[in-house]
Amino acid sequence: MSPHAITLIKATVPALQQHGEAITRHFYTVMLGEHPELKAFFNEAHQASGTQSRALAGAVLAYAAHIDRLGEIAGALPRIIHKHAALGVLPEHYPIVGQCLLRAIKDVLGDAATDEIIDAWGAAYGELAKLLIAAEEQVYAANAARDGGWRGQRAFRVARRVAESDVITSFYLEPVDGGPLLAFVPGQYLTLVLSIDGETMRRNYSLSDAPGKPWYRISVKREPQGKASGWLHDTAVVGTPIDALAPCGDFTLAEDAQRPLVLVTGGVGITPAMSMLEAAAPGGRPIRFIHAARDGRVHAFRQRVDAIAARHANVRVTYVYDRPRAEDRPHATGLVTRELLAQQLPGDRDVDLYLLGPKPFMQSVYRSGLDLGVPQQQLRYEFFGPLEDLRAA
Ligand SMILES: Cc1cc2nc3c(=O)[nH]c(=O)nc-3n(C[C@H](O)[C@H](O)[C@H](O)COP(=O)(O)OP(=O)(O)OC[C@H]3O[C@@H](n4cnc5c(N)ncnc54)[C@H](O)[C@@H]3O)c2cc1C
Ligand code: HEM
Repeated sequence: MSPHAITLIKATVPALQQHGEAITRHFYTVMLGEHPELKAFFNEAHQASGTQSRALAGAVLAYAAHIDRLGEIAGALPRIIHKHAALGVLPEHYPIVGQCLLRAIKDVLGDAATDEIIDAWGAAYGELAKLLIAAEEQVYAANAARDGGWRGQRAFRVARRVAESDVITSFYLEPVDGGPLLAFVPGQYLTLVLSIDGETMRRNYSLSDAPGKPWYRISVKREPQGKASGWLHDTAVVGTPIDALAPCGDFTLAEDAQRPLVLVTGGVGITPAMSMLEAAAPGGRPIRFIHAARDGRVHAFRQRVDAIAARHANVRVTYVYDRPRAEDRPHATGLVTRELLAQQLPGDRDVDLYLLGPKPFMQSVYRSGLDLGVPQQQLRYEFFGPLEDLRAA
């Protein structure tokens, strides 16, 4: 990009920051109105809550604000790349998104967005797109080249269903072609491509079993009026065909790490932690498994986690219920407080802490982890939706 274009971009960042969300909301309306084929990629609930608008606006603005020092935001890119690769975003989608974004900037800013400014933003978008396209292709190529890997959609069928709690059911998916399965890293997720009542949708589900099995297991919570989760619970039975894209995600268990592992989850956030626990427990590394649930009825995988802890002395388990029933036997009641977390951490706080659950839970545990002295880069989290800022609260 020319130095002049960079100056123009930097000068317009404040105006775009001010109108960022309005621009991205307008952008989605334009794009999904004119390119309905892209609807399958974008989760309507994420649009409605505004989290996806904020994520895209945030990324484009952060890129623009750092355009002359991109190294400072490079750390944010793997998450976007994995999210796009998981969902099957392709190079041909980028010009569509770019044109709609520029139109939205022009429509919202009006005369303030001169042709020169729009051209500069077009060039900036083009560079970011080039970088993402290349990185996403690397993920696709690597997944296709590895043993059991594939590119695009692969046909699976439900081989087994198991109720894990009143609200969470596991689905064991086996490939229809009978071939081997790409070894995923615990913490990664599959994307299902579902066709429900004539509507195609893509949904991410964490892999909840250890890698190396002849199936992929996902464990799905029924959401109130949830389209995909409702369909899976009500309609997907043994034999039901389901297409899936290859596992992706950068919220992964570092395979060589030996420091204590602390898994802190709430509700359905337990799913990737199950995969991590299954994979790490036999290695002997100290593991603290802390799980928060409302009560015993909605507490998934309790028997399995208890069995792992009984077999592996390095695994210690703490269940925390905030509304226990009389017959429930949690280790603690209430919330996962800083004090509770402190009891589970070694004095030097040198742990890998992975957390996942509802946003207020994550904000609170993240804050506690930092306050207690866990190094920030060893605090890892995933969102079951668009990335949000945990530090904002
Ligand atoms: C990386 C990742 C991993 C995940 N792993 C898991 C997992 O292991 N297990 C799991 O259960 N889930 C997981 N999820 C969440 C999953 O992808 C789905 O988002 C979830 O199943 C809900 O999808 P749905 O189609 O059932 O609900 P949706 O139809 O998307 O609706 C979700 C909620 O939003 C409401 N809603 C929908 N549309 C609107 C609207 N227009 N306005 C207002 N409200 C609306 C619905 O009523 C519902 O309560 C994961 C997500 C990500 C990103
Ligand atoms: C330079 C261009 C782009 C940027 C900067 C960008 C940025 C982002 C960001 C920040 C997220 C949120 C990631 C997260 O959840 O953590 C995201 C998600 C997503 N992006 Fe992009 N993106 C771009 C182009 C595209 C294109 C071309 C497509 C094509 C379809 C696309 C489809 C999606 C989808 C479907 C999601 C997930 C939406 C959801 O959760 O509902 N993006 N993108």
